Amino acid sequence: MTWSPLVNQIPGSMEMSPLQRIASLLYRAVRRLSILDVTRLMHLPPNAGESLPVADGYEIRALPAGELRELIASQRVDTRVGDPGRLYDGRHALVVALRNDRVVSYVWFAHECVEASDNFSRASHLGTSIDLPDGSAFVYNAWTDPEHRGRRLIAAILSFAVRHRVAGACALLTSIDWTNGRSIRAFEHIGMISLGTVVRFGWGPLQVSLIPRRAQSLGVRVGAGAPGLKFAC
Ligand SMILES: CC(C)(COP(=O)(O)OP(=O)(O)OC[C@H]1O[C@@H](n2cnc3c(N)ncnc32)[C@H](O)[C@@H]1OP(=O)(O)O)[C@@H](O)C(=O)NCCC(=O)NCCS
Repeated sequence: MTWSPLVNQIPGSMEMSPLQRIASLLYRAVRRLSILDVTRLMHLPPNAGESLPVADGYEIRALPAGELRELIASQRVDTRVGDPGRLYDGRHALVVALRNDRVVSYVWFAHECVEASDNFSRASHLGTSIDLPDGSAFVYNAWTDPEHRGRRLIAAILSFAVRHRVAGACALLTSIDWTNGRSIRAFEHIGMISLGTVVRFGWGPLQVSLIPRRAQSLGVRVGAGAPGLKFAC
């Protein structure tokens, strides 16, 4: 596909070529109309990246719902962290980095499947469902406090997760808006590789989806419930 070199080779927004910058600006403009969602699908192969250390002064651990509620109540975690109720269904897990008893970075994990309504860049009707094979977990809602960015906390959290089989995972999968270079870099730091680009275009039942073939070969079903036309590429 002619657009692949544009969207598949972005290591970080600071390093985009002039052509990629133009494509990124155009994409952001179109994305505002809620008719286009382009995400990079990334994969960590089984048992890779298990041994990354965390920077000095940080502690990494999985949080149960009760402790997350306490941290929210005492304002020791960002308010956008998400609903602790999710941690009761056995399908979701949360791993955080703490510094001085405050959560400064977090990542959510899900196994089995991710609903389309939980996996979209800007337009919820262009969300992409993901059905995962056994032993894989989907990574979503990653965040680091601006004061603690650049210390590879996301990579350290992911490493903890595969080492401790959080959400049953020895392999990881995630999708990231293709213009979010910082996030792509953060996931590359643990060794995640691109499986290709998911393109979702349209509105309501009138949609066209391009799904990376490499995902299918790993047993990952992408956008199974998406309406309209679907093409593997
Ligand atoms: C994307 C994000 C989670 C990365 O977290 P992190 O803990 O800083 O991750 P890393 O330390 O691996 O840094 C990743 C990249 O961020 C950039 N970065 C480095 N220092 C930074 C700083 N002080 N401030 C902002 N970005 C910085 C760099 O490009 C870095 O890659 P590099 O070291 O190879 O140059 C964080 O920037 C964030 O919370 N962003 C807003 C929410 C978001 O986009 N979440 C991802 C949704 S999938």
